[in-house]
Amino acid sequence: MLMEASFPFSLSAANQQPCYRGGPATLVCKAVIDETHDSKTFVFEDSQSRSFDFKPGQYISFKFEIEGKLCPRAYSICSTPTRPHNVQITVKRVPGGLVSNWLNDHMRPRMSVEIADIAGRFNYFDIPSRKPLLLSGGSGVTPVMSMLQYITDVVDQVDVEFVHFARTPKDIIFRDQLEFIARRFSNIKVHMVVGETGEETCFRGRMGTISASLMQSLVPDLPQREIFMCGPEGFMKAARAMAAEVPIRAVYEESFGERIPIEEPDKLGGEVYFSLSGKHGTCAPGETILEAALNSGIWIESSCHQGVCGSCKVKLTQGMVDMQDLGGLPACERSEGFVLACCSRPMGSVSIDA
Ligand SMILES: Cc1cc2nc3c(=O)[nH]c(=O)nc-3n(C[C@H](O)[C@H](O)[C@H](O)COP(=O)(O)OP(=O)(O)OC[C@H]3O[C@@H](n4cnc5c(N)ncnc54)[C@H](O)[C@@H]3O)c2cc1C
Ligand code: FES
Repeated sequence: MLMEASFPFSLSAANQQPCYRGGPATLVCKAVIDETHDSKTFVFEDSQSRSFDFKPGQYISFKFEIEGKLCPRAYSICSTPTRPHNVQITVKRVPGGLVSNWLNDHMRPRMSVEIADIAGRFNYFDIPSRKPLLLSGGSGVTPVMSMLQYITDVVDQVDVEFVHFARTPKDIIFRDQLEFIARRFSNIKVHMVVGETGEETCFRGRMGTISASLMQSLVPDLPQREIFMCGPEGFMKAARAMAAEVPIRAVYEESFGERIPIEEPDKLGGEVYFSLSGKHGTCAPGETILEAALNSGIWIESSCHQGVCGSCKVKLTQGMVDMQDLGGLPACERSEGFVLACCSRPMGSVSIDA
């Protein structure tokens, strides 16, 4: 007679487990894994032992609190919903960056973090594709790794090209996993491209930076593909320029963004009155309303910090702001007086419904 095997984690148990489907939650760090010299993967479980339901490519909005300061940040999930017991993020240090360095230096197993939500339109369920080109630069590999792992876990016979750009071979995040996947799945082609080979003189990938000619040589059927691209803003600019040169079927993107540079920051700043909480704050020149709110202990929901997702929308009831958004606020809401707190800077005294 066949006996049912007993594993520490069984999928049938996961199916019966209550499921996290979004909204605020507390996650507990289960493990920390070194990826490269400047990035680590953090494995989180739900504090209520729920399994996770999310779409490959989505991100988590974290509510970190570091030295008494609220620091909301978004990190893409690099693991796949086919392994629902935990969610994993991989964080690369940003020079001078508060949260990325804090996580790499201090996050340990059993520490807990608060999250606001799991969300994101850049995902493989809402945008299925039979001929995807998963294109990434640096830490932008995380959401496309989630998509790739989903595809391999369900053995989807989709025709995948995966192209990843890094500075040197030692900067390639998930290199071992990518090489393993490339050897194992004939429908998946992996290309790694570096700017310089560094110490690894026998690197077998390509050298170069992203351009239409390099991409066409790596992916000959480029015009027939749907591109899912992700990376820091510098990489994204070059990737968009490449995509504009070639007639590609569709381009979907997620930018990890640096903050948008502002012109003449000294002309911005002022007193902020948060009318719903009755608190006053100050925006130093160049500071956003979201930063002023967090400094005053007022929580405004936020996610992307780039003026894309719209989650930090607040009503401006008095004064004027300089808003450098990336399309996260529909024109009708703009005309009703709403602004995005993450990318709005006061031009003198303002009053906000928050
Ligand atoms: C949807 C989304 C998903 C993301 N997923 C990931 C992920 O999977 N892995 C990951 O490592 N990061 C990811 N990021 C970036 C992440 O949210 C942080 O912006 C990044 O970790 C820097 O935060 P910090 O607190 O260390 O830097 P901060 O203290 O906020 O910034 C310090 C300095 O670095 C600059 N800076 C900020 N962000 C970046 C950046 N991304 N690249 C270059 N310079 C920057 C700022 O302009 C500032 O000068 C994602 C961002 C978004 C919007
Ligand atoms: S946090 Fe996404 S638009 Fe402000």
